[in-house]
Amino acid sequence: MIKVLLFVLVFNYTISDTITNRTITPKHVKKRILISALFSKKFFITEKSKDNCRWLRGFQYQKQQCQRRKGFAEVLNTARKLAISECEEQFRYYRWNCSYHKDMFKKAYRETVFMQSLATAAIMFSAAKACTDGKLQKCHCSDEVPPKRPDMKWGGCGDNTKKAKHITRRFMQVTHPNTKFRDVLNHSIEVGIKTVIENEKAHCYCPGGNTCAIKLCWKRIQPFVNIAQKLQYRYHSAIDVNSKNLRRKSSWKKQHADRLLYVNNSTDFCNLTAGRRCSSKDNCATLCCTRGYREQKVVVPRRCHAKYHDCCYKVTYDICHNEEYVYYCK
Ligand SMILES: *[C@@H]1O[C@H](CO)[C@@H](O)[C@H](O)[C@H]1NC(C)=O
Ligand SMILES: *[C@@H]1O[C@H](CO)[C@@H](O)[C@H](O)[C@H]1NC(C)=O
Ligand SMILES: *[C@@H]1O[C@H](CO)[C@@H](O)[C@H](O)[C@H]1NC(C)=O
Ligand SMILES: *[C@@H]1O[C@H](CO)[C@@H](O)[C@H](O)[C@H]1NC(C)=O
Ligand SMILES: *[C@@H]1O[C@H](CO)[C@@H](O)[C@H](O)[C@H]1NC(C)=O
Ligand SMILES: *[C@@H]1O[C@H](CO)[C@@H](O)[C@H](O)[C@H]1NC(C)=O
Repeated sequence: MIKVLLFVLVFNYTISDTITNRTITPKHVKKRILISALFSKKFFITEKSKDNCRWLRGFQYQKQQCQRRKGFAEVLNTARKLAISECEEQFRYYRWNCSYHKDMFKKAYRETVFMQSLATAAIMFSAAKACTDGKLQKCHCSDEVPPKRPDMKWGGCGDNTKKAKHITRRFMQVTHPNTKFRDVLNHSIEVGIKTVIENEKAHCYCPGGNTCAIKLCWKRIQPFVNIAQKLQYRYHSAIDVNSKNLRRKSSWKKQHADRLLYVNNSTDFCNLTAGRRCSSKDNCATLCCTRGYREQKVVVPRRCHAKYHDCCYKVTYDICHNEEYVYYCK
């Protein structure tokens, strides 16, 4: 029995080693960046999949981390789903709608650095939550003691952002031969981390019931949608690294810790918006570029004629069929 087990172990090890050698060439590792795999829907993992780290093919260093820490594969899975769905949601009515082509991962566009920061934030968020839930090996609730306040006693189970930050930084690490590209993407990691930390909030409760002489408090990260919204704002206010005041990298961290920085100007994405739905006529004016829009009448069932019934604290409605317009880019 033991012999068989040993054989299986050795056999498995050899297989994974050969696969590794076959698929990873040094060129491969350095030029591809992690978010190209992170945002890819090709390898979407089902909960029952045998190898949850398969999507990291070609990223040996990250794959090892994914496999070695129990629970981390699930954290990454959750993070990928969060990042993709929030990216699509936040940009639903913008010219760039979070769709991508390969070129977007070869240059440091505004979109690229945004995706980098969003992916970072999603991993840090999921890791911190998993620590709180006891689902990530060697990580537990935060025992951090924030600044003393006489009426607050820190305890409970806080989100462990500190540990999550270290895990995420290590995982996201950029190793690209182009220095500028690497630095800008590395900066996006820090912006992602900072955005999560800014979304921590103290939660308190009064153990003494009504007399709230001492509150018991802990820190929680707010829902991921808040973080994604903040990062979308940072996408819009991102700055060109070629501008004068950004030439010196040493000043980035101090002066631009909360700005995303990009290197290459992206296109206007106008060739991607044909047939897209606008949120309003005003939105069409920008979304459809100069091509204009078409409107379509639709019938939408909605609640109407609300009636309040005194007898039983009940409100009843009728259903009205309203005619509304929806707009699509030509
Ligand atoms: C894979 O590469 C490592 C080092 O890069 C080497 O030691 C090992 O022998 C290689 N394995 C195979 C099966 O080629
Ligand atoms: C990335 O940025 C962090 C924080 O500014 C820094 O400590 C680290 O050395 C940078 N890594 C690379 C590869 O430049
Ligand atoms: C855009 O990116 C490429 C590749 O990184 C770089 O060589 C080029 O100089 C960049 N273009 C501009 C205008 O900065
Ligand atoms: C990028 O676009 C901005 C604004 O349109 C322009 O000022 C800048 O020169 C462009 N940068 C490059 C390198 O083409
Ligand atoms: C849109 O235009 C850009 C640049 O003009 C081009 O690189 C890209 O392939 C085009 N995309 C589609 C879907 O036509
Ligand atoms: C984004 O736009 C592209 C091109 O118009 C479209 O094919 C794609 O389905 C859109 N993505 C989402 C998430 O709506």
